[in-house]
Amino acid sequence: MSDQPEVELEARLKEQAEFEPPESFVEQANVTDEGIYDEFEENWPDAWERAAELLDWESEWDQVLDDSNEPFYEWFVDGKLNASANCLDRHLDDRADEAAIEWIGELGETRTYTYEQLHREVNEFAAALRDQGVEEDDVVTMYMPMVPELPIAMLACARIGAPHSVVFAGFSADALAERMNSASSDLLVTCDGYYRRGEPLDHLEKARDGLGSVDGDVDTVIVDRLGDERSVDHNADEFDYDELVEANSGATVEPVVRDAEDMLFLMYTSGTTGKPKGVKHSTGGYLSYAAWTSQAVLDVKPDDNYWCSADIGWITGHSYIVYGPLALGTTSVMYEGTPDYPDKDRMWEIVDEYDVTQLYTAPTAIRAFMKWGSEYPAQHDLSSLRLLGTVGEPINPRAWKWYYKHIGNEECPVVDTWWQTETGGMMVTTIPAIGNMKPGSAGPPLPGISADIVDTNGDPVEAGRAGYLIVNKPWPGMLRTLYKNDERFIDEYWDEYSIPERDQWVYFPEDGAKIDDDGYITVLGRVDDVLNVSGHRLGTMEIESAIVGVEGVAEAAVVGGDHEMKGEAVYAYVITEDGQEESEAFHDEIIAAVEDAIGPIARPESVIFTPELPKTRSGKIMRRLLEDIANGEELGNTSTLRNPDVVHDIQKKVNQG
Ligand code: WT7
Repeated sequence: MSDQPEVELEARLKEQAEFEPPESFVEQANVTDEGIYDEFEENWPDAWERAAELLDWESEWDQVLDDSNEPFYEWFVDGKLNASANCLDRHLDDRADEAAIEWIGELGETRTYTYEQLHREVNEFAAALRDQGVEEDDVVTMYMPMVPELPIAMLACARIGAPHSVVFAGFSADALAERMNSASSDLLVTCDGYYRRGEPLDHLEKARDGLGSVDGDVDTVIVDRLGDERSVDHNADEFDYDELVEANSGATVEPVVRDAEDMLFLMYTSGTTGKPKGVKHSTGGYLSYAAWTSQAVLDVKPDDNYWCSADIGWITGHSYIVYGPLALGTTSVMYEGTPDYPDKDRMWEIVDEYDVTQLYTAPTAIRAFMKWGSEYPAQHDLSSLRLLGTVGEPINPRAWKWYYKHIGNEECPVVDTWWQTETGGMMVTTIPAIGNMKPGSAGPPLPGISADIVDTNGDPVEAGRAGYLIVNKPWPGMLRTLYKNDERFIDEYWDEYSIPERDQWVYFPEDGAKIDDDGYITVLGRVDDVLNVSGHRLGTMEIESAIVGVEGVAEAAVVGGDHEMKGEAVYAYVITEDGQEESEAFHDEIIAAVEDAIGPIARPESVIFTPELPKTRSGKIMRRLLEDIANGEELGNTSTLRNPDVVHDIQKKVNQG
């Protein structure tokens, strides 16, 4: 060892484009045989039974894949199971007293739910839901932050065969109402409030506000998170969570036998149009896929203290805090709060205290850790960590290497996992004990996943060239449709490059990507009008429609600009109506309208008033130019514009601003 290990390491990290899986990891990994890729290829789709076999089935499937009604694929046909029984009951023999959920509140309070305790409360709440009149196939909405009652309510729904629709707590009242109406959901589970940076935040007011715009009669179950901090007077259609559970103390509810294809949950996500899409996930295929990828990629084992720091309000939390880890009987760590409260070492304190074995987080968080400095992780013993993961957006090689070195001590593989709400689970990433890691590139498609990069004609592009990512074959975790909208499902995901006459249906995720000679895929970002702000998916159309709803706004265009911490930030270009003053107050009104329609996550970084938007002669807004302006880049070709002068005017304005 030289006397300047740090300097040498930096130099090596800078140069090194490829990293081998650390030996200590390989020795103990769940999946180590590289033959698994061939096995899936040669034995497709039957190889997928390996995923289904991770679960307990009431009765086995007759057929692995039914592709007779493309693209409405069915997996594990006629198989019967219950997701809650798979996540709870089947672990009771061996793991009743082991922790299923280790919950850490923002104020430092903690709760441990053993499998037995979690099973008990899920049963009690399932009985309570039945008392509330919830029947099989009724959609129950949850609008809750990271409190244990959220996964409990999800599993209680799964137990009685009622699909859940979890709405991220940071979304606005209007966003809640839109999702409840779209799903015709008439039961809401929410909470009084939660803590952020030590301060109690009201949540119920927002929930009640949203319910004002929901059609039909809705009953609400309210979790008391704030205790004495806030006392709630319940209306006639509001029920206290604890009272309901108490009233059903000791109740058991037989898990309802569900068909593999029955809906487990709905998750709304942003698309190109103004209306969010209700992504429908199945019970058998989804759960098999979440369990299999947790095992193969996150290397989850029952004795682990596994931590995914996402919010359960997004798909990552569904698949990799709740369903995947609990199906495998491990301990899932759940943290309520922010990573820098009370101090910037909070994450590392938790890793240290709970002996966390895997950490799965997002590039936006890693960029923040990097900015705060390596002295924070250095204060703690992180040697319990065995694997690191990232998801949500491309990770730049510098952030990747920082994570690898300062969190993983070069002993933990980093899995950069590409997937989406629609895919249910990971699709493109290395298997940590098998594939070399290339910082910045997610890796090859997982075994059994067939992906390619194509041009606008659907023909594969050569290595190194940018194209569109497509998936050629169905997979068990795929979305089944968009809720009550099969037509939009086909339009959005399958039409683009599919040639039904040639019997070729391909799934189009709307991401740009390139592939290298080893088949490693680097995802370049969305090719549609969807933004990725701090790993959160937002539709530009949704933001635009909130802005044009403000009185005095004539027209608006929203684009994403590069942002050091958030990845992308929202830039709003606004044309005011004649006579409307471009005042500070009006600016604030526009920002408030976006927060009301979607939530603070969609808050524009910048609102730029402009007399005109750059448009082509056919009247199409040239977003690319607006992005260039937001990024302070040299402008691309403006010759096709109807109004070329306007871009320079806007640019001047932004530079002055
Ligand atoms: C979009 C999906 C998957 C759960 C979290 C986000 C981007 C996701 C990566 C990655 C590059 C990534 C894509 C994708 N994305 N993971 N590892 N590298 N980009 O789910 O909200 O449905 O967003 O996130 O653009 O399409 P989502």
